Amino acid sequence: MGSQSRIMSNSVLHAFFLLTFGATIALAGEGPYAAFTWTPAHATNYGGADGSGTMGGACGYGNMFSRGYGLKTAALSYALFNNGLSCGACFEIKCNTAADSRWCYPNAGSVKVTATNSCPPNWSKPSDNGGWCNPPRVHFDLAYPMFTKMAQYVAGIIPVYYRRVKCSRTGGIRFTINGNPYFNLVLVHNVGGYGNVVTLYIKNSKTSWIKMTQNWGANWENHNKLVGCALSFRATLGTGQTLSFNGVTSMQWTNGQTWEANTNFY
Ligand SMILES: *[C@@H]1O[C@H](CO)[C@@H](O)[C@H](O)[C@H]1NC(C)=O
Repeated sequence: MGSQSRIMSNSVLHAFFLLTFGATIALAGEGPYAAFTWTPAHATNYGGADGSGTMGGACGYGNMFSRGYGLKTAALSYALFNNGLSCGACFEIKCNTAADSRWCYPNAGSVKVTATNSCPPNWSKPSDNGGWCNPPRVHFDLAYPMFTKMAQYVAGIIPVYYRRVKCSRTGGIRFTINGNPYFNLVLVHNVGGYGNVVTLYIKNSKTSWIKMTQNWGANWENHNKLVGCALSFRATLGTGQTLSFNGVTSMQWTNGQTWEANTNFY
């Protein structure tokens, strides 16, 4: 009896884990951006050795060095970019040495990059000859130093394996607030955990939660007057994980400022 009930509770626990795990994966979406196991793709490089050509970009982060992403970044083909909802996601990428022993360095290991940009299609080129980012191709345009860690530059394009990994960040999640008293445009950055915010709410100490809409990349907007009271945020990642960040700003916040919460996703 004793051992039987122990087995039962074990299988109940097991079922619980299966359900929880299954729900997480389902919430992560169906696209190639939600690949958590090694998956084949291809990679090219851009932006030059100093990364100057990787600044700005379709996620809206601006200067990669002041944001903390540095040279460890990638531009994603539209299939991966998911209209900007993959901004901030972290990917581990390794050269497929079995498929390309000529250009992959044999013991290069992998690189971990943050999605900071999109790689737009070029319909004037075939997808197997220059139109590498044309849908439905799953393609990473890596910052030059990430590419050349794994393969010779002359390769141009290399076969890779990639998977989603957790982002390693220093400090709390950060919010840069722009706009005017009647319109907020909030850039979310330095996001830990799986890194890509797919839903964002805002409130001040006098309002209830207001759902923001994605403006572009990692920029979210709302049309409410929130000045004069401290702001809080509630973010949901692509994996479904949700956290509230309360009292992130002071009452005197103004547009153009960046505020850091004292917590983050892990
Ligand atoms: C697309 O490819 C053509 C032909 O090489 C090139 O002239 C053009 O600049 C490319 N367009 C974009 C948006 O990269």
